[in-house]
Amino acid sequence: EHTHLTDTAPKPATLPDAQTVTTVRHWTDRLFSFRVTRPRSLRFRSGEFVMIGLMGDTGKPLLRAYSIASPAWDEELEFYSIKVPDGPLTSRLQHIRPGDQIILRPKPVGTLVLDALLPGKRLWLFATGTGIAPFASLMRDPDTYERYDEVIMMHTCRDLAELDYGRELVEGLPDDPLIGEIVAGKLRYYPTTTREQSPFMGRITDNLRTGKVFADLGLPPMSPETDRGMVCGSLQFNKDIMAILETFGLREGANSEPREYVVEKAFVG
Ligand code: A2P
Repeated sequence: EHTHLTDTAPKPATLPDAQTVTTVRHWTDRLFSFRVTRPRSLRFRSGEFVMIGLMGDTGKPLLRAYSIASPAWDEELEFYSIKVPDGPLTSRLQHIRPGDQIILRPKPVGTLVLDALLPGKRLWLFATGTGIAPFASLMRDPDTYERYDEVIMMHTCRDLAELDYGRELVEGLPDDPLIGEIVAGKLRYYPTTTREQSPFMGRITDNLRTGKVFADLGLPPMSPETDRGMVCGSLQFNKDIMAILETFGLREGANSEPREYVVEKAFVG
């Protein structure tokens, strides 16, 4: 299922901060991604999120935090979302079509930014489910590869179909006319499933604890001298990964005090 906006005539803006949906793609019955027009004035750092949503029944905007999945150089904005059957926003948002309007507050914020990390050799990106969204932006940002020799994208989902959005993105990057050459040889991808048989299985957390990840990738264990981390998943996943990173000697950083890892706390789902 892949639809694209063909009618280029702009519809009148009827919502506050309205943006127009250009593309919608359904990956599974639980996951979809979509692209919208980008406000001309919107500047953001890869990894940040904005509030987006629809007008609620009461006439009040129904907004949620969504990581921008597209890179800063993209003329549109991309988002990756779960569909919650009885979720106040996503039960409706999952039905958007090209030409529809959504609300987008143009105030990007967030902690998953390169500026919140000290320089290093390797950047580890840890995500479960739709937590890969901010990394979809960072993996397409030339700055990421200027700062690190090696970028490792670890993504865990229940089954293979849920990895497709990330897999297609990662596998397409070397052929990307804009950043293909910058990415080539520097981005490593380590996807795992937990509920469907696949070549690599298990939770990121378990595979880090047992050292399987390092053995599979031929890398030494993480160290605060060389390794940096970014974490985006469920609350419990974030907590569990933070504890593991701390055992390797990495400390949590922030915009105001860059250190060895950062976590997105606004992310839910
Ligand atoms: P599992 O199948 O063992 O629960 P969800 O679809 O529920 O958001 O989960 C996405 C993926 O994240 C699943 O593969 C799930 O594994 C995994 N996961 C959930 N919680 C944690 C956690 N605390 N640590 C590591 N992986 C987790």
